Amino acid sequence: MQHHRVDFFEDWRDLARRLVSQGVAPHDVHWIDGRADERSGQLDLFADESASKAGTPTPLASEKSDPRITDASNRDGNAPAKLRVPVAFLGIAKTVSHHRSGGRWELLYRLLWRICHGERHLMNIASDPDVLRAIEMEKAVRRDAHKMKAFVRFRKVIDQDGEHFIAWHRPDHYSLRYTCEFFARRFDVMRWTIMTPEESVSWDGTELSFGPGMPRSESPAGDELETLWKTYYANIFNPARIKLKAMQAEMPKKHWATMPETELIDSMLREAPRRVEKMIAQTDAIVTAKAFVPQTDSLDELREAASACQGCELCHSATQTVFGVGPKDASIMLIGEQPGDQEDLRGVPFVGPAGQLLDEVLEAVGLDRRELYVTNAVKHFKFTRSGKRRLHKKPSSREVAACRYWLDAEIQLIRPRQIVCLGATAASVILGPNFRLGEGRGRVVETEEADWTMATYHPSTLLRARDNRDALQAVFESDLRQVADRQRQSAPR
Ligand code: URA
Ligand code: SF4
Repeated sequence: MQHHRVDFFEDWRDLARRLVSQGVAPHDVHWIDGRADERSGQLDLFADESASKAGTPTPLASEKSDPRITDASNRDGNAPAKLRVPVAFLGIAKTVSHHRSGGRWELLYRLLWRICHGERHLMNIASDPDVLRAIEMEKAVRRDAHKMKAFVRFRKVIDQDGEHFIAWHRPDHYSLRYTCEFFARRFDVMRWTIMTPEESVSWDGTELSFGPGMPRSESPAGDELETLWKTYYANIFNPARIKLKAMQAEMPKKHWATMPETELIDSMLREAPRRVEKMIAQTDAIVTAKAFVPQTDSLDELREAASACQGCELCHSATQTVFGVGPKDASIMLIGEQPGDQEDLRGVPFVGPAGQLLDEVLEAVGLDRRELYVTNAVKHFKFTRSGKRRLHKKPSSREVAACRYWLDAEIQLIRPRQIVCLGATAASVILGPNFRLGEGRGRVVETEEADWTMATYHPSTLLRARDNRDALQAVFESDLRQVADRQRQSAPR
């Protein structure tokens, strides 16, 4: 009898490939569910920490979706020389691997074995008990993942890098790894963390990292959420962090008192779950513009639909949606932040003071504004009142994420060759939340959205500048001159 501990699908797949090709029959393998072990707190201190277990966050390994198992080693002559496994089976197996049942690895191996030993079309036989069980498990995971996508509620906290959204959710299965890429795509401009009792995953704008889980405490309430969260976050997600679980497993808690940083760890353990719980309780659903965006190739239809958008709360205070303006075949798209006071009243982007400055500079570099498509990252004006005046307020990353669906739809329809992001907000949408205008301004890169993408200052930055206005404007002008030159040099489409 062989004993194998498996945590994740990829581990199982590689091992199963080897075992089948070595002719190891299902009844000769004892599969140990690594994740159930983790749950019961028997953390193996000597286990290899490489594969994103609780501990130092590790980037998500890129998905190897090798549809075939092609290990040619054939030691006992029993197994086929080349294992060809139906893609459909591997798809189901991958989903089933997220099921909480400890028997899943065994079941999957038995199915694989049978498929490789004469029952090639086994998965089509829905009356087979193994197949039936696998299909049930697959459905359960899908349902659970669906629930997770619908019910995860993010709560905003501010940490040293700005806004961070966190959510706590208790899935029925190990659905976090099943859904995390969905969340990464959906909320790619926000930094967020989803915690489950077993593990957590964080998105920093570029990469998903797994960290330890967060049990939900029994007691509600909690006092100063912000500080506690920071403490918790700093410790859990600091790569050099203390391995909590390993420590817990290694020595009884009473000995902690003699250790450095004990107090912190202790209070972290006590307070953090309460804090997260409170945060979760106060959280609203993240609503986005997605449901309002029609499938269409007409800009007018898109604009019309956007006028009724309620994808975030900004639609309630602003006068109207300010959609992009310009010809559908524009080869340059300018993206600002959000409409200002005058744009809000007139319904057209860049017509206030920032727009006038923009017009001036466009003219200076020889770009005809009527040929450009000009839009904003956020389509509704956000402001605070000060007496009679409405003062611009920076949109939150949540609003930017909500509104992104409109910008994406505009980009899809226009397919600009060049995109110019005016200011940090637009840049964060197209170039990612880690983009820094100070370092990346004026640099031209290829993005998914366009052949040439560049970020430069927002004209409002120049308007606000005091002594260095001329210098900033010269830089802004030279950035846009690059755009104009490229436009002239590049072959027409
Ligand atoms: N600032 C922007 O970012 N967009 C506008 O439309 C006006 C001012
Ligand atoms: Fe919709 Fe964007 Fe306006 Fe929010 S800001 S309501 S997402 S159009």
